Amino acid sequence: MRIAVPAETDPGETRVAATPDTVKSLMGLGAKVSVETGAGLKSGIPDEAYAEAGATIAPYAQAAVQDADIILRVRRPNAEDLSGALPGAAVIAILDPHGHVDALQSLAAEGVSAFAMELMPRITRAQSLDVLSSQANLAGYRAVIDAAAAFGRAIPMMTTAAGTIPPAKIFIMGVGVAGLQAIATARRLGGIVTATDVRPATKEQVLSLGAKFIAVEDEEFAQAETAGGYAKEMSAEYKAKQAELLASHIAAQDIIVTTALIPGRKAPVLITADNVRSMRPGSIIVDLAAERGGNCELTKPGETNVTENGVTIIGHLNFAGRLPASASALYAKNLLAFVETLVDAESGALAINWDDELVKATLLTKDGALAHPSFQAAS
Ligand code: NAI
Repeated sequence: MRIAVPAETDPGETRVAATPDTVKSLMGLGAKVSVETGAGLKSGIPDEAYAEAGATIAPYAQAAVQDADIILRVRRPNAEDLSGALPGAAVIAILDPHGHVDALQSLAAEGVSAFAMELMPRITRAQSLDVLSSQANLAGYRAVIDAAAAFGRAIPMMTTAAGTIPPAKIFIMGVGVAGLQAIATARRLGGIVTATDVRPATKEQVLSLGAKFIAVEDEEFAQAETAGGYAKEMSAEYKAKQAELLASHIAAQDIIVTTALIPGRKAPVLITADNVRSMRPGSIIVDLAAERGGNCELTKPGETNVTENGVTIIGHLNFAGRLPASASALYAKNLLAFVETLVDAESGALAINWDDELVKATLLTKDGALAHPSFQAAS
């Protein structure tokens, strides 16, 4: 079995799909691993480290991908990136399928079996394969660090002979994996932390991290969670009540980190332009949902902008990628755990069980066609 690790082609992608550690483990499964030269550089991993772990260094992408049974990537490849791949090769990456059916069709046309890691079911057995969690946790941490770096004041209270600096007020909107880590990080830095979410289960989690919970807690709120543990789209009435409650709170904050997402949809707007205008100059908004349109109306995805009233809005597209070494280490482990389920332990050959629920949930293309019911319907 041959496994390829090409370099990422998106210039904004700093992560890599394998580390020397995971290369060793993949070889332990009986695979030969080929890593494209320079693939790990942005994550601080030189070619030599991969070579020492036993990988072959390929001089260009096609050389890595040629004859591979499995191709490991961070982002969705295009047809050119897959040139030379075997028909039926497994491509495993974060494929960002929602709204990109054309790109999926072009993957299908290459004849590969493409697996979207972000569709992995969140069941106990698949916890070590959960890329959303491994990356969101780092993103939540980094968002607070980015906010602290851009903030013109200290975060903790400081009592000095020259006077007292008040602690920063930090508000986290959306308490999933990223939001929980943002709360924990903001608390560690000494901020006064509050948080909100539409899922009632988050209240206890917020309190247990020592932060205060802020939300309209009506009947709709009590049921605002899907069986999968995700947020539902809330009614217009609820959104209006919640917006009213939050408006005065937002105006009093120094730093806001937004992380609210609804799977497969554009991110909900939680901070309007008027809310931003109500904030003090020097305040910071970090929008982790920028990649999905943003939770703040004034976010410019991929940019940091300062509003007329002096509020800095940070809209990076890849917060986890701002900690490339850590993000790659965890992502590569997630991929390794998935590959282990696709390989026959005795023969070391690729042996995909097409009936496995992890395979069914993540497989988007197979045998030249779209294979996932959610996206077949959209094509
Ligand atoms: P996510 O990235 O889909 O969304 C982030 C947060 O935004 C969520 O908490 C969501 O409720 C919130 N949100 C959505 N719309 C909002 C609005 N209008 N206002 C305020 N907040 C809003 O969430 P993530 O991080 O993927 O977590 C979703 C759930 O999955 C959580 O319950 C988490 O604990 C659970 N989970 C389960 C795992 C497992 O069982 N293996 C692993 C990881 C997470």
